[in-house]
Amino acid sequence: MDLGLKNKVAFVAASSQGLGRAVAKLLAEEGASVIICGRNIETLEETAKEIKSIGARVLAVTGDLSDAKDRDHIIAAALKEFEKVDILVTNTGGPPAGQFESFSQKDWEKATQQLLGSAVGLVNGFLPGMKKQKWGRIIAITSQAVKQPVNNLVLSNAVRASVAGLMKSLSNELGQYNITVNNVMPGYTQTARLVKLIENNPAVANVTSEIPLGRFGQPEEFAAAVAFLASERASYITGVSLAVDGGWIKSIL
Ligand SMILES: NC(=O)c1ccc[n+]([C@@H]2O[C@H](COP(=O)([O-])OP(=O)(O)OC[C@H]3O[C@@H](n4cnc5c(N)ncnc54)[C@H](OP(=O)(O)O)[C@@H]3O)[C@@H](O)[C@H]2O)c1
Repeated sequence: MDLGLKNKVAFVAASSQGLGRAVAKLLAEEGASVIICGRNIETLEETAKEIKSIGARVLAVTGDLSDAKDRDHIIAAALKEFEKVDILVTNTGGPPAGQFESFSQKDWEKATQQLLGSAVGLVNGFLPGMKKQKWGRIIAITSQAVKQPVNNLVLSNAVRASVAGLMKSLSNELGQYNITVNNVMPGYTQTARLVKLIENNPAVANVTSEIPLGRFGQPEEFAAAVAFLASERASYITGVSLAVDGGWIKSIL
């Protein structure tokens, strides 16, 4: 199946490693130009080099997406290089693990900026161009926690649900401009984030017994779902929350 991604421009947030990196790589393999970002310049440049070797056009911009100034700089750099962004994938690192009483009001504000603030800022930055051309794809990377809270991850459980609410609202508002908006919920996927969660709590390594497919996911398996939603082929799919979790979520819908 041709995904129709040639000549598209994709901005993939927080993409020097992990899920974002796998998404950027796959979109590039499918013919899109990609803008990638992250805070650490070395890992970002390494990823940019790897994606360039596929033959794709790549712009790598460093900065912290939780920070409004950095975010504006990243958006401006992307629009200067490409003029338009057709596909926006929102993402950042996850907030720290812990239970309610271990967090201060400041921690909540930080997590809100990191997850919700970054998504709002990026949509604000790229929406005008999508509306103008009457074509766009907005895809949020959130978590299985949106549908089933994960133990010891209260910040993530609470704030990610607000990102899913934002995306569903946007799907209602932006359909008229031929812009689809969807939410993709990774389950336990083998990235640096998962390694850290297991370091903090070795019991996480055993959750494979709760996953019907019996193993952790690979970033490439997650990226395949995002690439499809970003594609021309997914033109009638909007407002969905798609889990890529090996079956971990226990609800029927
Ligand atoms: N992997 C899983 O099992 C899993 C499951 C559910 C949800 N998630 C969520 O999915 C998201 C991605 O996870 P991952 O596993 O890919 O994490 P990861 O392996 O730690 O990678 C995170 C990427 O985001 C960049 N990044 C982090 N914070 C950033 C910021 N503020 N501004 C710009 N770039 C930033 C990192 O680079 P720098 O550090 O250099 O900035 C890195 O490239 C996280 O929110 C995570 O909580 C992951």
